[in-house]
Amino acid sequence: MAFIVWDEVYETDIRSIDEQHKHLVSLLNRMLEALSQKKGKEEVLYVIEEMNQFARCHFLAEELLMEKAGYPDLAEHRLFHDAFSSKVDDFLFKYRQNDESLSAEVTIFLTNWLNEHLSSIDSRYIQSIKSLDLPD
Ligand SMILES: [Fe+2]
Repeated sequence: MAFIVWDEVYETDIRSIDEQHKHLVSLLNRMLEALSQKKGKEEVLYVIEEMNQFARCHFLAEELLMEKAGYPDLAEHRLFHDAFSSKVDDFLFKYRQNDESLSAEVTIFLTNWLNEHLSSIDSRYIQSIKSLDLPD
């Protein structure tokens, strides 16, 4: 699975969000590297846990901004976030039970999810959040 290279098409132009998205990309790439270099279960688990925790913080930050901006589709967006967190919780649970055959499934899920999150799902709220006129 190819690493994700940050591209300007992913930018929302909302500084805090872009920084968080870049961090998610770097965590995903670290996980791909750990898998491809067979760095072992501990490193893979550590990175997936980091991604899960950081994603939760990121989701809260996004939801707060959407709420402040009165974004009309916040409830739907929150469902995307919750679905991601549940899925990753489930992966972590199984991975800890030594089900390492999940690696391919986890990789495909996280890579596809991040691509979709960055290039499509999040682009929907940009106009709303920009109306908040956040400081640079
Ligand atoms: Fe996001």
